[in-house]
Amino acid sequence: MTPIDAYRDPSLSVDQRVEDLLGRMTLAEKAGQMLQLDARRDLKDAVTGKLAGSILHASPERMLEAIDLAARTRLGIPLITAEDCIHGHGFWPGATVFPTQLALAASWDPALAERVARVTAVEVSATGIHWTFSPVLCITRDLRWGRVDETFGEDPYLIGEFGAAMIRGYQGAGLTDPTAILATAKHFAGYSETQGGRDASEADLSPRKLRSWFLPPFERAAKEGCRVFMLGYQSIDGVPITANKWLLNDVLKDEWGFTGTLVTDWDNVGRMVWEQKVCADDVEAATVSVRSGNDLIMTTPGFFEGVQAAVARGLLSEAEVDAAVRRILRVKFELGLFEDPRAPDAARQAAVIGHPDHAALNLEVARRSLVLLRNDGTLPLGAEPTTVAIIGPNADDPQSQLGDWAGASGQVDWMPDGQPRELIETVLDGFRAVAPEGWTITTARGADIERLVPDPAGEFYPDGQPRPPISRPAQADPALIAEAVETARAADYAVVVLGDTVALTGESRSTATLELQGGQVALLEALAATGTPTVVVLINSKPLVLPPAALNAAAIVQAFNPGMRGGRAIAELLLGLIEPSGRMPLSAARHAGQQPIYYNQIRGQHGNRYADLTQDPLFAFGEGLSYTTIEYSDLTVHTPSVTPDGVVRASVTLANTGTRPALETVQAYVSDLVTSVTWASRELKAYRQVQVPPGERVTVEIEVAAADCTLVTADGRRVVEAGDFDLLVGPDSRRKNLLRAGFHIS
Ligand code: NOJ
Repeated sequence: MTPIDAYRDPSLSVDQRVEDLLGRMTLAEKAGQMLQLDARRDLKDAVTGKLAGSILHASPERMLEAIDLAARTRLGIPLITAEDCIHGHGFWPGATVFPTQLALAASWDPALAERVARVTAVEVSATGIHWTFSPVLCITRDLRWGRVDETFGEDPYLIGEFGAAMIRGYQGAGLTDPTAILATAKHFAGYSETQGGRDASEADLSPRKLRSWFLPPFERAAKEGCRVFMLGYQSIDGVPITANKWLLNDVLKDEWGFTGTLVTDWDNVGRMVWEQKVCADDVEAATVSVRSGNDLIMTTPGFFEGVQAAVARGLLSEAEVDAAVRRILRVKFELGLFEDPRAPDAARQAAVIGHPDHAALNLEVARRSLVLLRNDGTLPLGAEPTTVAIIGPNADDPQSQLGDWAGASGQVDWMPDGQPRELIETVLDGFRAVAPEGWTITTARGADIERLVPDPAGEFYPDGQPRPPISRPAQADPALIAEAVETARAADYAVVVLGDTVALTGESRSTATLELQGGQVALLEALAATGTPTVVVLINSKPLVLPPAALNAAAIVQAFNPGMRGGRAIAELLLGLIEPSGRMPLSAARHAGQQPIYYNQIRGQHGNRYADLTQDPLFAFGEGLSYTTIEYSDLTVHTPSVTPDGVVRASVTLANTGTRPALETVQAYVSDLVTSVTWASRELKAYRQVQVPPGERVTVEIEVAAADCTLVTADGRRVVEAGDFDLLVGPDSRRKNLLRAGFHIS
């Protein structure tokens, strides 16, 4: 009997198998192993020609072909396959598409996020995909940025909590768990600190600013055992992230002990040549990227020849290439891909994709992610048999409801018609399904948002990424408005569902403005003139600037992109079948010129307003209403003086003074009163979600570790500075709504 090659012997240790395989590989095979190529292109060339170690964006059919091609290469090294399963397996027909990260964050419930990620992993792992490019740990700063919907909002602590939860959910019981998929902490780090909201622009970040706000969620992810980190696109202080040895090696690997795999973002290595122009050619770019600590090179086919030439010319040693290949092989062995390539499994797919339990969780998440921002008492809608007019461009638009990275959002080419319509419950569907017996539901579109115009620069960027069409605001259409007005007049209530579209969302789709586009404002104004009580529902990728006609409406509900079952959850909320409990995971602006408007601003400026506008946000971080009123009182710190390793313990009393139950999110902020450097006026450090039944009082205990009351010193060290602090507790981040009690750290 011929003995099997050592690397194929599962009884050997992962290290032994990696070293054996590495010893057999040619330089070309190593170069290929470092490549992650786009399966929508020439798949045969990618796997057989360039010997790619990984693929992404494989349609269900191409996945099978790719696995087969890899098995037939000389060493038969299995592929590791990746996809953007950001809020569910959005590009798998019929899979469960959850609310976006931003909507999920509005639940303020990381346990829910962990369940979402687990369900996603169960569905994804049945389809031959080993790895998701999620969670996004970028901090929203400028709302004009196109990728706000992919974030968990603006607060590093909340982002860290949600990110850690999703990583646990995706990676399950460990990589030997057949339902586990690799999680990716992205985009490392500072990508969201754009200039003017422009996507992938130079990020103006010092190492200290990075350490203060942008790195903590990533450090948390590394501690949580996140197996992959993905870079952003930005450069910092003249250094493209792909070449940032300090961040990739010194901080991530040496300081945080990260031993997982590092993947670039899309053509980052090529971009250093054709876009950022810091490398003369692919050879130099390959040298720089390997030396800076990158392992997998996403969609830069020229890296294959480039890295081999770099070694041949002595610019790079083969040992440096080996270090990266080792990290890629290690994860393949740990996933057990040599024994079982985890190919698509039709039986498992039939059993789990879109399972009713997953759909039930989806509805639960959508319910929890809705934020009631204004209510003059119109909501919940009256109990009499009633006519409700469901109006607006997003009232019955499945794709806007799902948002980016799903169905027909444009990132993949195999789902031009999107997710099956019957799986998506729009607001109109929701009302029709859950309105009580005897109610009448009418509808009118009322307005269009945009007209899409091809970009004259061409359909694709130089790196092959699709160039999005230009979104031109649609003209207000008098006929559509007249029809909507008539429908509203004939109804007891109008529910107007407004917002944005996927063409105004995502990579390369930052917006210059934050206003409601197209005919939406004219529609609102016309509806306001009818006198019919009007509820505004916002299905949008990010908080928008709202016109007076929206702010004067009877109620406003912020839904973001609430997923497949979002419309039903919205109907339930408006009809009072569920209680509103979502809270804003980021601040909303009154005007685009208020950017950036996040709550944890650094102390110190002349005054607190513009000459022509307040700096007060339209809606603040943490804000959200219930159908009842909750009064906060008696904030007491029980440990007025603690040591740096101690815990600040406090309590606060909540009284439900209304007639409906509330799930209240009690938020605890800390303000360090005197600091050696300028620092945020307050930062979220803890929160609790508690049920408060109508008419009852509940005492809530709050704990904040003194070790979390840190700042970053002028020389970049995160420390606790002894002294006096304020604990600020209340329903949102607005100073006027927070009770205050002092404590001291000795
Ligand atoms: C580029 C995006 O920036 C990143 O988030 C995504 O995961 C990759 N493309 C792969 O689609």
